[in-house]
Amino acid sequence: MSPRVTGPKYERVADRLARLIACGTLRPGERMPSVRGLARQETVSISTVLEAYTVLEGRGLVETRPQSGHYVRRRRLELLEEPRPPRPAAGTTRVSVAALVQEVYRAVRDPDVVPLGAATPSPSLLPAERLSALLREATRAPPSQSLGYDTPPGCLPLRRQIARRALEWGAALGPDDLVTTVGCMEALHLSLRAVTRAGDTVAVESPTYYGLLQLIESLELRALEVPTDARTGLDLAALEALLGRHPIKAVLAIPSFGNPLGSLMPDEGRERLVAMLARRDIPLIEDDIYGELPLDEDGAGVHPRPAKVFDKRGLVMWCGSFSKTLSPGLRVGWVAPGRFGDAIERLKFAHTVATASLPQLAVAAFLEGGGFDRHLRRMRRALAAQVTQVREAVALHFPAGTRVSNPRGGYVLWVELPDRADALDLHARALAHGISIAPGPIFSARGRFPSCIRLNCGHPYTPELDRAIRTLGRLAATPA
Ligand SMILES: Cc1ncc(COP(=O)(O)O)c(C=O)c1O
Repeated sequence: MSPRVTGPKYERVADRLARLIACGTLRPGERMPSVRGLARQETVSISTVLEAYTVLEGRGLVETRPQSGHYVRRRRLELLEEPRPPRPAAGTTRVSVAALVQEVYRAVRDPDVVPLGAATPSPSLLPAERLSALLREATRAPPSQSLGYDTPPGCLPLRRQIARRALEWGAALGPDDLVTTVGCMEALHLSLRAVTRAGDTVAVESPTYYGLLQLIESLELRALEVPTDARTGLDLAALEALLGRHPIKAVLAIPSFGNPLGSLMPDEGRERLVAMLARRDIPLIEDDIYGELPLDEDGAGVHPRPAKVFDKRGLVMWCGSFSKTLSPGLRVGWVAPGRFGDAIERLKFAHTVATASLPQLAVAAFLEGGGFDRHLRRMRRALAAQVTQVREAVALHFPAGTRVSNPRGGYVLWVELPDRADALDLHARALAHGISIAPGPIFSARGRFPSCIRLNCGHPYTPELDRAIRTLGRLAATPA
């Protein structure tokens, strides 16, 4: 980062001090230079130095202790601030994130790279033995079930199990209200295709999961970014204003534990969102892939009520999968398409004909056998511990002024680096050290969030992971 040469004097002094804090010359808890000494050294007035310290306090880098002076703020976990909500972006835009996303997930394929990039669960958290037993068992099902085309709407035993779980979360769906899909991604793809045409505008959270942006790009749609809060998700007032100004054809959102923020939209918000869109006849495509993973220490958390619960007009297309809870490789997902059921079934048939039978039968048997909830409790406990460990390590090793999300669920952290750090540059330098991260700009259609990164916490916190976080912190503190 090149030093600022314009702007008020106190800002320049503040920037210089911020750099000394970032690179560790001034360490957390240490006393800052005295006001008089600094004024002499910088040849500025005492009031300029005091103003610079006020700026640094505002940035969360410095604290004032009465009768004692100014200190570099300690970064205890409870002092770690959450990322700021983005300002509204102007207008709709074409999307082109695919090439950069490809770079990120190529790195993930390399087993020697520390996997902080893609949001994948560690295989050690997945019930591998039980799944392989159930897959073997599925091969013994009648060949008409296990070997034929399982044409849409797909595996009935699985749809029954999904409907049973949905009922527990308040969504009264029958098996006939569901279509099974090749992961959540196909559910989202089919939903978008059912309600949009090339050139249409789709509203998305900002930041949002890059896979959704890739989908929008591949369907030649336009994205409209809606500011999203790290705690409560989509900003509904901002969305309402945008609905009045743009011909939005669909809203694509992750109300339960959004990726990358881990936000949770409260029930009142979901109800308001569904009603707001229903008044305008606009479909809501609800990505509920993380709903089963609320983060709490005892793992007993409950799946939030999907927005689908509030759908009176069949306009909510509820999408999910078992990729985050059982295995991403099974590629088993679903959509409850509401009034778009016929269109979805036709598109599904044209797109992939059918979902593979054996994984669907195995997942249905897992759900039916009753072990799924026990597995989820164990997984949630492990994920909650891992997320806390990574947050603590970020608090300890990243430069002062770093902000980090406090996710309500899922297992990714959104980190906002201080001092206009360059996340793309950090991504490249981290890869050279054998560490993959997801740089902020791939979470925006407009390449926003240049100083943010997303960290995956799906893996147990090993000494190797600890070293990787320390290295990242060091790289972030010493911009190229
Ligand atoms: C929010 C979100 N939606 C969808 C997906 C893709 O899901 P699947 O692997 O089931 O296709 C992911 C994967 O990371 C995700 O994070």
